[in-house]
Amino acid sequence: EITQVVARMVLDSRGNPTVEAEVALAGGARGRAIVPSGASTGKFEAVELRDGGPDFGGKGVTKAIANVNGTIANAVIGYDARQQRLLDRAMIALDDTPDKSRLGANAMLAVSLATARAAANAARLPLTAYLGGVDATLLPIPMMNVINGGVHASNNLDMQEFMLVPHGAVSFRESLQWGVQTYAALKAELQAKSLSTTVGDEGGFAPNLHSHQEALELLVGAIEKAGFRPGIDISIALDPASTEFFIDGRYVLKGEDRTLTQEEMVDYYAQLVDAFPIVSIEDPMAEEDWAGWRLFTERLGGRIQVIGDDIFVTNPRLLERGFKESVANSILIKLNQIGTLTETLETMELARSRAYTTVISHRSGETEDTFIADFAVATGAGQIKTGAPARSDRVAKYNQLLRIEAMLGEGARFNDWVKRAT
Ligand code: PGA
Ligand code: ZN
Repeated sequence: EITQVVARMVLDSRGNPTVEAEVALAGGARGRAIVPSGASTGKFEAVELRDGGPDFGGKGVTKAIANVNGTIANAVIGYDARQQRLLDRAMIALDDTPDKSRLGANAMLAVSLATARAAANAARLPLTAYLGGVDATLLPIPMMNVINGGVHASNNLDMQEFMLVPHGAVSFRESLQWGVQTYAALKAELQAKSLSTTVGDEGGFAPNLHSHQEALELLVGAIEKAGFRPGIDISIALDPASTEFFIDGRYVLKGEDRTLTQEEMVDYYAQLVDAFPIVSIEDPMAEEDWAGWRLFTERLGGRIQVIGDDIFVTNPRLLERGFKESVANSILIKLNQIGTLTETLETMELARSRAYTTVISHRSGETEDTFIADFAVATGAGQIKTGAPARSDRVAKYNQLLRIEAMLGEGARFNDWVKRAT
């Protein structure tokens, strides 16, 4: 039974305020959670309630915190923490808006996740086992974002994320090691070419380059220098986050001084997929460009994983539209895009019902909270993207996965490289 709910302001990895909630139960168990924050956010994400005004450049969260300490606390005190669904439903009813703009998705999610942790602690179970039961043994393949661009860095790359996918490893621990070694080889390669090794928001390097092709060449070179086989041991995933460079119906690649139509943009990707060991592309087309998405999926959906992030925003209604219009074959899962644990699980269930893969994701503004690491194993998602193997806001999740894998021992599984929808 929930006896106390308290929120406070803490900082995220960009130094912006965010919400931490703490839930206490009769009997003494407690749970705590911090919500992350995106930069290239989807238009239809649940609303992150910010104060506006002069403090913190308008990014203060005093209103969200007051909502937790007042309205939400009053409503949920007395609830059984194990009744996650009831608790989340109660908050949704209390908010009573389609986009969680009254209470704030940041307020609601902090309480939702802190409650799950408190319930796990009361049951004396690791969060993974509490949420996922005895079947929760599949460690996710990490997608490590080692070159940053777009709105996550101040370099000239229009595409936001270039990721390593070490799917050839036999365990999570080994895949992480391969990623670390390739990240180090990439750094050496950049230094040898007198390119910048300063990093972006997700810990990946952010050099100025002539083209996306050059970034991909650097990655393949680093994979080889580290002693791995591109496409066999380690492949590449991209998140162009193309909504950010979709302007007046055209894809504007400033860094390459080119402006492309939908068809030309799809051709551009097809050429990259032909030339490089790319296994997954997220948000190749903009969130409002459903026609472009259909073209892309038709052309490349049979060859690679096509992940919808901004276009689906972890929302079941948008995912249903994706099914109907044959858009994507995978969905990115971000708890704070929808705002409660219950709704996130429902979206994942819906994805599975149509054989869409699910990829658990961090946000570019992260914290030390490692909920998504446990969540990835609990749901058996099989894939997680949580940044470069550098910076504690990113590494915290990988470290938690190392602990989970060690705890599972012989029972741990890795790489059921999930069948893709075609
Ligand atoms: P965001 O970026 O957290 O800044 O939205 C992550 C992504 O686009 O996947
Ligand atoms: Zn994305």
